[in-house]
Amino acid sequence: MKRLEGKSALITGSARGIGRAFAEAYAREGATVAIADINIERASQAASEIGPSAYPVEMDVTRQDSIDAAVATVVRQAGGLDILVNNAALFDLAPIVEIRRESYERLFSINVAGTLFTLQAAAKQMIAQGRGGKIINMASQAGRRGEALVAVYCATKAAVISLTQSAGLDLVKHRINVNAIAPGVVDGEHWDGVDALFARYENRPLGEKKRLVGEAVPYGRMGTAEDLTGMAIFLASPESDYVVAQTYNVDGGQWMS
Ligand SMILES: NC(=O)c1ccc[n+]([C@@H]2O[C@H](COP(=O)([O-])OP(=O)(O)OC[C@H]3O[C@@H](n4cnc5c(N)ncnc54)[C@H](O)[C@@H]3O)[C@@H](O)[C@H]2O)c1
Repeated sequence: MKRLEGKSALITGSARGIGRAFAEAYAREGATVAIADINIERASQAASEIGPSAYPVEMDVTRQDSIDAAVATVVRQAGGLDILVNNAALFDLAPIVEIRRESYERLFSINVAGTLFTLQAAAKQMIAQGRGGKIINMASQAGRRGEALVAVYCATKAAVISLTQSAGLDLVKHRINVNAIAPGVVDGEHWDGVDALFARYENRPLGEKKRLVGEAVPYGRMGTAEDLTGMAIFLASPESDYVVAQTYNVDGGQWMS
């Protein structure tokens, strides 16, 4: 028995990386999946590679009209919305005295406002449908504690954990579960960019930061997007109906809370 049979899912930022792996996993479990991304070419490519149960949706989570249009498209295409994964996010890195206001505003508008207002639009749809729903926010170990060079991104992910708690408590009466996943370090294009930023600010050769963070994981290596799919399926399935407002670490033992 497939665990998400007949469900309609929307995953933001799923043209690549973790979101794409979640889309593949959800499709395998029987869901219809909207590959929603600001990069529509890659979203279209990902959807065609995943197969007929995936379809691309152009979406910019910083714009309310785009959020509303994406939810409307999902309802039209799949007959409703059962699962939202708030996965789109941006990373940046700078010492405190070099943080630029534009970077702060961009990160908060994607990582925090994007998460809140996509969650809100999905919740309105789920409440109108009257059959509950599942909302999964992508937090991070970065949201559990600060990091010298990563102040803004860490703050956005702490905000995601907090929003997950408040939204989880508010929406449980509608049988909408809001929970979050806090990954540690997950290899992929995202971390290639992170590694390049650390190389610049810590004066390291390319690839060194990645190697060091991988070695520091108690499990013994960086995570892969596939390491997270089990939790993503669980939180989208009826097995997690009694799980409310939680943030789960899936990080190879990096953080305990
Ligand atoms: N990779 C890691 O090590 C790691 C660790 C902890 C948490 N996370 C979180 O997991 C999630 C996925 O990470 P990833 O590594 O796959 O990231 P990624 O950078 O590979 O993918 C992010 C996707 O979001 C899309 N996107 C960017 N801005 C957008 C916008 N305004 N509207 C819609 N889509 C937009 C991008 O086009 C891209 O496809 C993020 O929330 C990230 O913060 C990642």
